Amino acid sequence: MRKDPIKVLIVDDEEGILDVAEGYFQKKGYQVYTAPNGVEALEVLERVNIECLFTDINMPMMDGLELAEKVRQIESTLPVVVMTGFPSLENSIQTLKNGVVDYLIKPVNLEQMELTLKRILRERELFVENLILKEEMGRQERLKQLNVELLDRIEEVNTLNRIMEDFSNTDSSYGIFNKVVDLGVDELKADKVFFHIYSDQDRSLVQVASNDCGIEDEQTRNLYGSDLSELASAFILDILDGEHNPCLISEPRKNDRIDDVVHSLMVVPLKIRDKTFGIASAFSFNEKLFDEKDIYYMSFITQKAASAIENIALYENIYDNLFSTLYAFVTALEVRDLYTRKHSTRVAKYADMIAAEMGCTEEEMDIINFAGSLHDIGKIGIRDDILLKPGRLTDEEYEKIKEHPDIGADIISKLGLWDREMEIIRHHHERYDGTGYPDGLKGENIPKLSRILCVADSFDAMASDRAYRKKMEKREVIKIIRENSGTQFDPKVVNAFLNVANQDLPDDF
Ligand SMILES: [Fe+2]
Repeated sequence: MRKDPIKVLIVDDEEGILDVAEGYFQKKGYQVYTAPNGVEALEVLERVNIECLFTDINMPMMDGLELAEKVRQIESTLPVVVMTGFPSLENSIQTLKNGVVDYLIKPVNLEQMELTLKRILRERELFVENLILKEEMGRQERLKQLNVELLDRIEEVNTLNRIMEDFSNTDSSYGIFNKVVDLGVDELKADKVFFHIYSDQDRSLVQVASNDCGIEDEQTRNLYGSDLSELASAFILDILDGEHNPCLISEPRKNDRIDDVVHSLMVVPLKIRDKTFGIASAFSFNEKLFDEKDIYYMSFITQKAASAIENIALYENIYDNLFSTLYAFVTALEVRDLYTRKHSTRVAKYADMIAAEMGCTEEEMDIINFAGSLHDIGKIGIRDDILLKPGRLTDEEYEKIKEHPDIGADIISKLGLWDREMEIIRHHHERYDGTGYPDGLKGENIPKLSRILCVADSFDAMASDRAYRKKMEKREVIKIIRENSGTQFDPKVVNAFLNVANQDLPDDF
């Protein structure tokens, strides 16, 4: 309930009417202002916040209609009621034109005047409430919109966090390349994602990661005679020639080579110190059209991948230094024995060739090269009089020699950097039939790379001079290896070895 009285202005040139009305309304608790004409009425309106105005029409100086018109210009929401003794159609129309809300016929009944006043004030209140309500609805709408924006923003932050977390858990370059692909599929809902390493010098692209989606090969081959991977490479090179960077093509133009299959595609470079190191490309075969937000996410992914690769490169530098140190030990060991010089280098090379023949991954190739080069590092722990003994070994001495895979694994494990390599070194003298050492593992329980290393190691041992015997003929060695397939050696590895040996056998193989 309001405490201050309602302020009413009554304008009439008849003093008697003003007196009666003023007395009536004051008694009813209103605060009443009066004016004898329009001019004085406007002066009152300037000073007082009037809530309803009653005015006569015929007055000197400024009549009621002119006053109503002026009021409308100054304060359009102030209700004006005109009172006239001679209502006419023309007057009625004019009053409405001037924004007058009602009119009363003289002689005015005071109670009727009050009823009109109450009705008008109630209507005004409703009008104001309505205005507030409308504003409130607008506010609600805005809030809703803000809420949607906020949810979007939260989702965005979550996505960015997931991306960052993913890279912080990855510790190899291949892991990072695969992560770029996985994130492209998960976060961008792409059907096919490639990661290529790019060389600026010869503009070459090497595909290092992509997901399986099962659709592209048959479809693109039918349409274009080549698979999506080749088309993607050609497309990426086209884009690199252009200025687009990163590039988003949501709807490939008609007659583009891949427009029948690919609905939308995106190419984002991965830059390390401003140099393009790799390219992430994403393809959509369904309704999904990539948009600016997808580009934003993919750029974020490639940025995070770039810094992860830089970190790993730093580590790899440390790895390389440590590897060089270990390798120097192996070399130092080997040069003391005329007959084992370069043995480890050759074993690494043969193991690499067999692994390639068996279709090992790049990561496995890295591991076997490392393990091949350092497989005998454990011989550091064997006494020289045993290690360098020119004749045959006694059983006891042989038992000592058999400790070298275990010692080697122990040395590597202490560095904590090469767990997978350590495992391969530990088992390089296991036999396929389970009679090897140190653990007597059998068949597929022996790590695949150890089985490969075992064949490479045995081949080089037999094909090289030893203190106690001359080297065997290559043909003879190959025969022995074939004969021991399934007992000492894994038959699959022996097959790969025979393929390599029969194909392009180098002089020292
Ligand atoms: Fe060995």
